[in-house]
Amino acid sequence: MEKIGFGVLGAGMISGIHADALRKSEKGKLVAICDVRTENAQKLADEYAPDAKVYSDFDQMLADPAVQVVNIVTPNHLHTQFVLKAAAAGKHVLCEKPPAMSLAETDQMIEACKKAGVKLGIFVQSRMREPMRYMKAALEAGRFGKVLRVDVQMKWFRNADYYKMDAWRSNRKCGAGVTIQHAFHYIDILQYLMGRGASVDATMCNLSHPDVALEDTLDARIMFANGVRGYVQASTALWPGNDVRIEVYGTDGCAVMAGTAMKEWKFKEELPEDEKIRKSGSAAATAGGDPKALPSEDHQYVIDDCVDAIREGREVCIPCESVRGTLELALAMYKSDKEKATVAIPFENEAAIWD
Ligand SMILES: NC(=O)c1ccc[n+]([C@@H]2O[C@H](COP(=O)([O-])OP(=O)(O)OC[C@H]3O[C@@H](n4cnc5c(N)ncnc54)[C@H](O)[C@@H]3O)[C@@H](O)[C@H]2O)c1
Repeated sequence: MEKIGFGVLGAGMISGIHADALRKSEKGKLVAICDVRTENAQKLADEYAPDAKVYSDFDQMLADPAVQVVNIVTPNHLHTQFVLKAAAAGKHVLCEKPPAMSLAETDQMIEACKKAGVKLGIFVQSRMREPMRYMKAALEAGRFGKVLRVDVQMKWFRNADYYKMDAWRSNRKCGAGVTIQHAFHYIDILQYLMGRGASVDATMCNLSHPDVALEDTLDARIMFANGVRGYVQASTALWPGNDVRIEVYGTDGCAVMAGTAMKEWKFKEELPEDEKIRKSGSAAATAGGDPKALPSEDHQYVIDDCVDAIREGREVCIPCESVRGTLELALAMYKSDKEKATVAIPFENEAAIWD
């Protein structure tokens, strides 16, 4: 079957993961790259897809009939305008996380894509790691019994140069900061596993990046609507940076994923497949100390799924609607830190969060 054409908008640091995933994909193909810095787009093409067309103007890339899906890989505060343009041009969209800087923008994106009849998926690709899929299935099957607690520990390190690479990386209104930029993936995992939040208590501080006016450390407690407590400890201040850990504890079972590997999988009632599940995942790095040290397999999963979704006329594996609750939690964390108070969900006046 002929491959579906993908265009990548934004050829910066993480674009190589998209290009590598598309190079390996048997379903999608990188046919166009667009960046206002044409040299970035050309460099990406030279390395991963010499036949891809290079654009500096997004409208021109959107006019290219070979492009059927657009991957939005620009800084966070620019996602919305490009998703809206792609939808208006009738292109399917896979957008990097966070979907947008506000729930209002996210709703606008969802609505526009629905109206245009195009897919809108978000790259919170850690959801699709094999151990995580087993955790989700075991939760749905009730194997944990009553869930008591879910946890994320993300003890990462980013040096000062990382924050100076580009102006947006140290500007909170552009979506910088450990909560919305890095921990977003793992706040998403908790929301994916537990559902909507009911309230949030969070504190933020800057432990080791005195030159940037951002939080590099987050401690948050979430009360989920289902009554389960979730805890997030996340930082980019902790040298050398280690693998993330996700832990689920219930009355009847416990599961821990570290990096991309299952570390613990114990149930009072064992099933024959548990032995295999215990060995699931891989030893791939997950950007603990190096922002580029990420496997492209998770992005490829999302890309391949999008092609299947288009062909089968079904929803993508990570629709934007399913990530809205994650953004709601992350924004509630900023509000809680700012107001030094517990924030109930839903909350009012999200625009004031970034003032
Ligand atoms: N899913 C993940 O694991 C993961 C990891 C890192 C980053 N990200 C996300 O990927 C996105 C990009 O991050 P990055 O680190 O590659 O950023 P970056 O700053 O390195 O790259 C962004 C690129 O977008 C280009 N750009 C900016 N404005 C543009 C415009 N108007 N038109 C065309 N191109 C434009 C820039 O020139 C740059 O080349 C962000 O949303 C970030 O949150 C996701």
